[in-house]
Amino acid sequence: MIKILTIVGARPQFIKAAAITRKIQSSFDRDVNEILVHTGQHYDQYMSEVFFREMGIPEPAFNLGIGSANHGFQTGEMMRALEELMLREKPAGVIVYGDTNSTLAGALAASKLFIPVIHIEAGLRSFNKSMPEEINRIVTDHVSTMMFSPTVTGIRNLEREGLVHGDSAPYHIDHPGIFHCGDIMYDNTLFFKKQSEAFSEVFENLKADRKNYLLATIHRPSNTDSTERLGQILNALLVISKSLNTEIILPLHPRTAQKLRAFPDQSLIGSLDPLNGIHLIPPVSFLDMIRLESHARLIMTDSGGVQKEAWFLKKPVVILRAETEWVEITEHGNGILADASTEKIVQSAEYFLNNPPADFPPVYGNGDAAREILDIITTVRWG
Ligand code: UD1
Ligand code: UDP
Repeated sequence: MIKILTIVGARPQFIKAAAITRKIQSSFDRDVNEILVHTGQHYDQYMSEVFFREMGIPEPAFNLGIGSANHGFQTGEMMRALEELMLREKPAGVIVYGDTNSTLAGALAASKLFIPVIHIEAGLRSFNKSMPEEINRIVTDHVSTMMFSPTVTGIRNLEREGLVHGDSAPYHIDHPGIFHCGDIMYDNTLFFKKQSEAFSEVFENLKADRKNYLLATIHRPSNTDSTERLGQILNALLVISKSLNTEIILPLHPRTAQKLRAFPDQSLIGSLDPLNGIHLIPPVSFLDMIRLESHARLIMTDSGGVQKEAWFLKKPVVILRAETEWVEITEHGNGILADASTEKIVQSAEYFLNNPPADFPPVYGNGDAAREILDIITTVRWG
């Protein structure tokens, strides 16, 4: 039995962890003793608790309650608390997901204690170090012992940085194991899609036209923290709803909600109203989100996870960024990088509404990534 400490802290990590935890419970409970640690990075009920409840993830064994703060303080506090916990629990390995400050803190605290780091969703790169996530990913990959990349592009990115799969186990930090496997987010979309149709009540509480809406999310600091960029995106939403005659549903990340409250042009914010076809709603649960994504005519987002869910659900996506880590989507023409330009966003939305793509080849695996990953963790020698 391998004792693994899994570190999560932010919304997409609860969702990613659900796939692995579910598979441990169903097929690997004799091999893996998983101890779930929540750093407390996200803490609002609809940014945290709802995912545990709805997705069947057990209560975290530890919640460090770190909360929001500047990067250095937040990451430092997490590291301090995680180090103490790791010294006490003495896990054989630590799983971290993705690219948040919780990922970085977990990877640094573990590697300095010589505890092997298992990075799930390794190798993704935007080649834009002004994104905090890019720094978190690069550092995490370079201190990892086992890396699981959901894309071939991710494997190539790691190779370019000199991180190459050592061909013989046991793997260790200087001789890492690097594996291409599917995307655990796809496991979740498949698993929760039916439940979402059966149980989500998201439309019942919303006065939107459920046959004619676009779904949008915005939360990247590059978009929310710039009045110019946020203004361009919000204007695009207004233009689209008027000129393309469609409604827009926008579940608001708390970072974005805060920035809207402080936005200098409050008349623009006031016009984001159901009367103008725009529905601003609080963040929604995963079942609600999958239902909203499934029925949308197209998706507009700067989220990594939402870009891929658009692909899984065969929806075109207008990406509100200048670059993406998920290049397969744009290379296949099923996503357009519209950045934060009103004109490009409107043009891209119009293009996709008139030309919905039909071909979504299985570049993110077959929906059984959690099993692939756990098979490797439990059979290959690493330490
Ligand atoms: C974080 C991740 C980002 C990820 C995103 C997923 C980092 C550096 N960023 O960004 O990679 O895409 O999570 O959603 O780790 N807040 C609340 N309630 C909460 C959580 C946050 O009000 O439950 C507010 C606070 O004002 C906080 C702000 O949102 O300062 C930002 O939260 P933070 O966790 O620092 O970054 P995110 O933008 O959520
Ligand atoms: N999500 C959700 N409710 C919302 C918005 C997003 O459940 O109101 C889910 C979404 O379906 C995806 C994940 O959160 O699985 C993406 O997280 P987020 O956009 O916060 O972060 P990113 O993926 O960009 O790191």
